[in-house]
Amino acid sequence: MAPPQKHLLAIEGMYPPQIAAYLDLAESFVLLNRTGKTPRDRLRGRTLINMFFEDSTRTRVSFELAGKRLGADVINMSVATSSVNKGETLLDTAATLNAMNCDLLVIRHASSGAPALLAQKVEAAVINAGDGTHEHPTQALLDALTIRRRLGGLQGLTVAICGDVLHSRVARSNIFLLSAMGSRVRVVGPPTLIPPAAERLGVEVFHDMAAGLDGVDVVMMLRLQQERMTRGLVPSAREYFRFYGLDEAKLAHAAPHALVMHPGPMNRGVEIASTVADDPLRSVIREQVEMGVAVRMAVLDLLSTSGANQ
Ligand code: NCD
Repeated sequence: MAPPQKHLLAIEGMYPPQIAAYLDLAESFVLLNRTGKTPRDRLRGRTLINMFFEDSTRTRVSFELAGKRLGADVINMSVATSSVNKGETLLDTAATLNAMNCDLLVIRHASSGAPALLAQKVEAAVINAGDGTHEHPTQALLDALTIRRRLGGLQGLTVAICGDVLHSRVARSNIFLLSAMGSRVRVVGPPTLIPPAAERLGVEVFHDMAAGLDGVDVVMMLRLQQERMTRGLVPSAREYFRFYGLDEAKLAHAAPHALVMHPGPMNRGVEIASTVADDPLRSVIREQVEMGVAVRMAVLDLLSTSGANQ
């Protein structure tokens, strides 16, 4: 048996049964969410603090909703008005939060490794909600849940992760999770946006969308992360869309049943055409958002009941 986790910092290094435990519990929350019958006493008396040092819509709101649906007291620390702007270091902030006895700390930060650093300094269970270009574990879990529900499992699938893989923590977490669960992963993008030695992560690399999407079960598009680019890696948005933007013609190379995914926020007309993103028969982008709440409920629940934080 894999040991229960105290924190959720990364997918890398997790065992398949640990991943499956999150997915199975999340599955049970999907129906409860749909019927409005969530167990609001599960986290009663527990405190969850959301600390987002980078922009977020879906992730922050879904952690907040997840905590509330399980009955936790949820506090959203507003970084824009916190002492962080007075020069307080992350560790001083952590010490302050620690003194307040919070149980669960959700953190998004521009520096890779910030959640791991925090986890060494606080009593609370720390959940990585995205750190730099490193990992975004709950996104990979919600993607996996979406795929599993639609295609019946993860074993033996071929998944193409396309676009700005270089800057994507979503891609990294998905590569680790999908590989661990028995899927084959391809990364598809221009050479400037694929990490050097990507093959060492156990993926196949393609620079051509037609070849990369050929016969795949899932097409996962990534946002072009201009804010992380220190130099021009893409000639122009228009040029990028022509070669790497997902439109109906490129999608036709994938298997007929292939799912279209995107973690959001989307740059429509840059990495994905609206006709594909909004196609109810192919796109599961909205479902990903729904699964996000269920997965985060499962994560909060498992980390606060694993015994490690009692
Ligand atoms: C992703 C992120 O922040 O890493 N978004 C998300 O959490 N839904 C992807 C992105 O910003 O492109």
